[in-house]
Amino acid sequence: MEKITRKSIAFGKKELPQFDRMIAKRGYKNRSEAVRDLVRDSLVKEKTEDPKSKMMATLTIVYNHHDHDVQHNLTHIQHHHPGLIISAMHTHMNKDDCMEVIVLRGKVRDIKSLGEMMIAAKGVRHGKLVLTGN
Ligand code: NI
Repeated sequence: MEKITRKSIAFGKKELPQFDRMIAKRGYKNRSEAVRDLVRDSLVKEKTEDPKSKMMATLTIVYNHHDHDVQHNLTHIQHHHPGLIISAMHTHMNKDDCMEVIVLRGKVRDIKSLGEMMIAAKGVRHGKLVLTGN
């Protein structure tokens, strides 16, 4: 188990009840766990702003599979970045649309560049890149 250090935090009079309501709504059992999650989220966000840091990411893209050019183009892009792409999952959403969830690992700069390229590819209807780390 992770070693824990105790520190005290000063809250403003108005902030504490608002914070307690928010964390209760989100299902936290105590303030410490909620504060740790907020801190971890900020640390991960900070890392996403450093182009050289190594992170993981999921890229979700939606496209119409009747458009053969987009499918071919997306597969082509993925085959040209085998070092960045760990895996890809294809789901048939309905009779027209496909969703792909691609897992990436690498430098923030490279992940963002590949993600932006795939989201911007002609025929992609929606795309979202989520970076994460520990
Ligand atoms: Ni499909």
